[in-house]
Amino acid sequence: MASMIASSKVVALIFFLLVSYGSCTSIVNFNASHITADPYWVPARATWYGAPTGAGPLDNGGACGFKNVNLPPFSAMTSCGNQPLFKDGKGCGSCYQIRCLKHPACSGNPETVAITDMNYYPVAKYHFDLSGTAFGALAQPSRNDELRHAGIIDIQFRRVPCIYPGLTVTFHIEHGSNPNYLAVLVEFEDGDGDVVQVDLMEANSGWWTPMRESWGSIWRLDRRRPLTGPFSLRITNESGEKLVAYQVIPANWAPNAYYRSNIQYQAFSSDFSSDAGLGSGSGAGLVISPAAGLDTKILGVIGLICLVLCRLHGTDVP
Ligand SMILES: *[C@@H]1O[C@H](CO)[C@@H](O)[C@H](O)[C@H]1NC(C)=O
Ligand SMILES: *[C@@H]1O[C@H](CO)[C@@H](O)[C@H](O)[C@H]1NC(C)=O
Repeated sequence: MASMIASSKVVALIFFLLVSYGSCTSIVNFNASHITADPYWVPARATWYGAPTGAGPLDNGGACGFKNVNLPPFSAMTSCGNQPLFKDGKGCGSCYQIRCLKHPACSGNPETVAITDMNYYPVAKYHFDLSGTAFGALAQPSRNDELRHAGIIDIQFRRVPCIYPGLTVTFHIEHGSNPNYLAVLVEFEDGDGDVVQVDLMEANSGWWTPMRESWGSIWRLDRRRPLTGPFSLRITNESGEKLVAYQVIPANWAPNAYYRSNIQYQAFSSDFSSDAGLGSGSGAGLVISPAAGLDTKILGVIGLICLVLCRLHGTDVP
């Protein structure tokens, strides 16, 4: 479990999509220029796990390493993704619109969820194991329970950019970090919602050292010689765009602490705004708030729990 994964964060609304519709072998494609042209919905199946109105795992975390996903900006609109969605952790923090049309209790309205966890049961080519909250959100008003009762439903999905109004890319120094081992969770990147590389520069060293994916959205660096802060962090998104958070981690950094940067990706080009009606509607799913779960509480090695939950749940699937 610990060997899987890596990446980042989260939520909200509007557009961006990939995938070629109908092709069962298609893989999610991040070429944004396709998105405005082909905003196709792709078939998938959905299940749910955890408490009926909960955020998934009992600890409100998941295999991505995010914490407090019951709170904004995730607000429990979260999902486990199977491998084509979770991508060994690289899919952590990706945002998708989902909707259901077939079950009579479905509202048909798109909702936005973020990938915060993983599952690997062979339920469908694309399988969203949703939080109870997210699953229920696909229903018509007051028919949430009826829909949840269905257990497994056909849905459609499409990738959308994540948007975290008022939030900048935030780094969380993970529990157990020390001068010879630094583990950093990267969160709240607008746009694709995850990063494909993180590099670190020690105080005045003048060069970047690549960090490596530890698990989920957590990146780590192991050093025999103690690392000297402050640290600058450089993140690279799926488009290859690099942003530098200059000396975002102070010399007197501490584990279990959040450090907010002043950098943020552009979520999308203006081409997206026409579809952004979603962004302002309350039905759009994830509501983002600057409160953003900047809680210093850390829950430690979390992914295992969800993995187990996902697995248990998976065995119930007809
Ligand atoms: C995106 O797709 C367009 C149209 O197929 C292509 O011209 C362009 O080079 C692609 N961009 C990237 C970054 O792959
Ligand atoms: C990567 O970042 C650039 C710059 O902010 C942005 O224009 C681009 O859309 C981002 N790529 C993705 C896939 O979000």
